[in-house]
Amino acid sequence: MTSPETDLVDAPVAATGSEWWRTAVIYQIYPRSFSDSSGDGIGDLPGITSRLDDLETLGVDALWLSPFQRSPQKDAGYDVSDYCDVDPLFGTLADFDDMLAGAHSRGIRVIVDLVPNHSSDQHVWFQEALAAAPGSPERARYLFREGRGLDGDVPPNNWESVFGGPAWSRVVEADGSLGQWYLHLFDSTQPDFDWSNPVVREEFRRILRFWLDRGVDGFRVDVAHGLVKAEGLPDHTPDPEGGSMGGDAADVPYWGQEGVHEVYRDWHELVAEYEGDRALCAEAWLPTPERTALWVRPDEMHQAFNFSYLETPWDAASLRDVVTSSLRAYGAVGAPSTWVLSNHDVVRHASRLALTAENPQGHGIGPNSPGKPVAELGLRRARAATTLMLALPGSAYLYQGEELGLPEVIELDDHVRQDPTWFRTGGERYGRDGCRVPIPWSSDAPAYGFSPTGDSWLPQPAEWAVLARDAQLADEASTLSLYRSLLASRRARHLGAGAVEWIEGLGDDVVAFRNGTVTVVANTGSTAVALPDGIVIASSAPVLGGTLPADAAVWLADD
Ligand code: BGC
Repeated sequence: MTSPETDLVDAPVAATGSEWWRTAVIYQIYPRSFSDSSGDGIGDLPGITSRLDDLETLGVDALWLSPFQRSPQKDAGYDVSDYCDVDPLFGTLADFDDMLAGAHSRGIRVIVDLVPNHSSDQHVWFQEALAAAPGSPERARYLFREGRGLDGDVPPNNWESVFGGPAWSRVVEADGSLGQWYLHLFDSTQPDFDWSNPVVREEFRRILRFWLDRGVDGFRVDVAHGLVKAEGLPDHTPDPEGGSMGGDAADVPYWGQEGVHEVYRDWHELVAEYEGDRALCAEAWLPTPERTALWVRPDEMHQAFNFSYLETPWDAASLRDVVTSSLRAYGAVGAPSTWVLSNHDVVRHASRLALTAENPQGHGIGPNSPGKPVAELGLRRARAATTLMLALPGSAYLYQGEELGLPEVIELDDHVRQDPTWFRTGGERYGRDGCRVPIPWSSDAPAYGFSPTGDSWLPQPAEWAVLARDAQLADEASTLSLYRSLLASRRARHLGAGAVEWIEGLGDDVVAFRNGTVTVVANTGSTAVALPDGIVIASSAPVLGGTLPADAAVWLADD
């Protein structure tokens, strides 16, 4: 190995503090696709409980569960009809308590999803609103408005749903006439609450307390940039190139309104009444770390997903920039940065990092998409990207199945697709089903061990047999073994609580830094690079003769 001249640059330092969420690796469970104990083809809470040993062995600190509350499942549970009960598809409240106790007994924390922007149209409040008259208190819990035009048949404004089509639907009044319109930023089955109404605020305080009293360690807050809408609901035309959930426009009247912060200040106080560092994590799609950092000021939420990082291409200069700006922006408000590469709304990073055509968030990829990824290249980059990410100080989010190197499922038949995006755009956008396919546990069991009957709500590809957890456990070179070794070293060497000290001089395509006793080198270029001295403790690809191959990353230790 060589000893290149290295320049140590100014080190952006993560904010310090002892709370668990500052450094935790949090594993996202998408319950319907994780593990099915009942055999109906949809994962459930007892299924999660039965797999807790695997999660402990993997080495994660906490779990985030996507919604399992009562829901007609029009948007896979992000359409909640009862916020304080478990949907029978997933089990019962007692099953939830068992799962929580099982996780806690292994030292694993659990945060749950909270969906405050909208409810299901089957929520009792919305049903009451439909039955009540315009101007009633029942309608005032949502955003009902008169239509425009002579007959009121033009929607109240020009807003578009994130899933495509208009963001307004018209109701039929009790006398059978066409009546008011209601706002839904997502599907028509997901009416938006009116957060200027104190009744809505009080109801969510009750819901927060319900789950905190049950012992959850915090909440991932859905659409945390969307609750408050601009006064008067003015027209807005989104940037067609922007991702579905935010885009780049600075003044979108339904994203990032100032008034939303008051809600989180209130929740901060409520959560602080409970023992044990309960945490709030914002799902807020905003264009920069600086803007997202407003959600984690000292009296607001504790964490926010770093979507700027997720959206950064596999390119050394861009990666250095986003890491620096993230640590600075979050550090400036005393918050840790988070890091994330995949979730249930984006193309899995084992495919995304090798796409060769633009693919705005939420559009997905399918059989007719341009620029489809080469699977082998995608996996190489994904392993390298994760190796880089897990060395960064702060908290990291993993999405179920990425530890197996699962790619996006591109070749799903049209008739099995379920994402409302697919239906609301008439098939123009494939949507997010490709990252939601149930994960494989055993290579030669029915549904690869996902369900005892072999049923699976989305079909699993034949190629997934070799990616099943049991096949990877015994293989030292597998992606699962890589994740386990990264997580173990990250914990043992306290990398989550460390700092980034950039190393320069290894080449334009290289991202290199020190964090504590570890030197991290990632090569985003197409030729091998010489490595500095150090003992290899983890690497995404074989390191031979002191060089790091293309699309690879390594951790080197002094001892
Ligand atoms: C969730 C999505 C969901 C949307 C509407 C999000 O950002 O992550 O899965 O469709 O909110 O609730």
